[in-house]
Amino acid sequence: MLKHIKSLLLAISLVSVVPAIQAESNKPEGEYKNWRLISFAHREDNKSMRAILGNHIAIKSAQSGKHTWQDGTILAKVLWKESRHDKWPQAFVPGEFMRAEAMIKDSKKFAKSGGWGFGHWVNGKLEMHNAEDSAKCFGCHVIAKDTGYVFHHAVLY
Ligand code: HEC
Repeated sequence: MLKHIKSLLLAISLVSVVPAIQAESNKPEGEYKNWRLISFAHREDNKSMRAILGNHIAIKSAQSGKHTWQDGTILAKVLWKESRHDKWPQAFVPGEFMRAEAMIKDSKKFAKSGGWGFGHWVNGKLEMHNAEDSAKCFGCHVIAKDTGYVFHHAVLY
């Protein structure tokens, strides 16, 4: 009986702790806040909006006009839920922040995945995905091989 009560108490405490951790990690924090916009997109199917930002090496690569992303490039994809502007309902604007994902170019270190490493920001800190998760990311980015495995075209840099 005592055991049951203990596990019940543990379950209750976990329930109250988990949302706090999620709220903490769910902030748009990271060095990408100082980077420049490269592109943005609105996804109709899952009702989300995303901005693609690049560090200074990414911007230099984009300015070259080619799809060759130099080593040291970091691209950030920052996602928000789609929302309507409160005073202007015709406009879709970013709503609740969802997450921030990363692609890091290092042609030697990530040779097996087209030179790209994959990660995401947690509490403002960039964390790399493990090999299995990275392989899933790359498995889809392979579609964009002819543009250096990057889907977005730089429109502002
Ligand atoms: C099912 C396919 C798919 C998978 C899996 C996928 N991506 Fe993407 N990714 C896309 C598409 C399509 C875009 C461009 C459209 C958009 O912005 O969503 C994109 C864009 C990006 C961008 C912006 C640069 C670019 O290519 O335009 C980053 C950064 C990114 N993804 C990171 C990741 C990470 C990290 C993972 C793994 C956790 C991942 N992606 C998994 C399809 C995928």
